[in-house]
Amino acid sequence: MISIISGTNRKNSVSKKIAHIYQTILEAKGEQATIISLEDLPIDFMGTALYENSGKNELFNPFRELIAQSQKMIFVVPEYNGSFPGVLKAFIDGMKYPDSFRDKKAALVGLSSGIQGAGLALSHLTDIFNYCGMHVLAQKPKLSRIEQNLTENKLSELYHSLLEEQVDKLLKF
Ligand SMILES: Cc1cc2nc3c(=O)[nH]c(=O)nc-3n(C[C@H](O)[C@H](O)[C@H](O)COP(=O)(O)O)c2cc1C
Repeated sequence: MISIISGTNRKNSVSKKIAHIYQTILEAKGEQATIISLEDLPIDFMGTALYENSGKNELFNPFRELIAQSQKMIFVVPEYNGSFPGVLKAFIDGMKYPDSFRDKKAALVGLSSGIQGAGLALSHLTDIFNYCGMHVLAQKPKLSRIEQNLTENKLSELYHSLLEEQVDKLLKF
């Protein structure tokens, strides 16, 4: 199973729009993918689903199951304060260890208002996933100045082609 994780719980996020575009690209290449949006996380999951509460939150458990079943994952990651959103780290910390990520494969897509395209965020996340034993595809599109490159749910030609190239590599990965 392939999952696309929209990496923020911010409402009406650009990340979620890009996750949907990514899903469409995969579909055009004959692959189905499930979108996991952190926007749908139970609001209290940090206090009710982590550590000693692990497995006890019935609204959070389906997220654990979806990640457990995913063999390939695409993370769409916005740049927040020079890194990735804290909610994404809490989400990762709430997954079953070590089987959720070990020996699996990931592709990362970064986006930002500024010029970095979440490059540092993707490096931070790569370190974490490598620590967890997950292989991360080397090609990581960094979608900088995203507001100028996304109009009415459509990416600029260049950014769309970067995602298509990444999908081709991910399917062979
Ligand atoms: C909390 C927060 C921190 C941000 N920090 C940065 C930043 O460090 N660099 C940057 O270029 N943009 C930053 N931005 C802008 C976001 O990267 C940009 O608006 C992106 O499209 C947000 O994605 P989202 O809509 O999926 O939340 C920040 C936005 C938020 C909400």
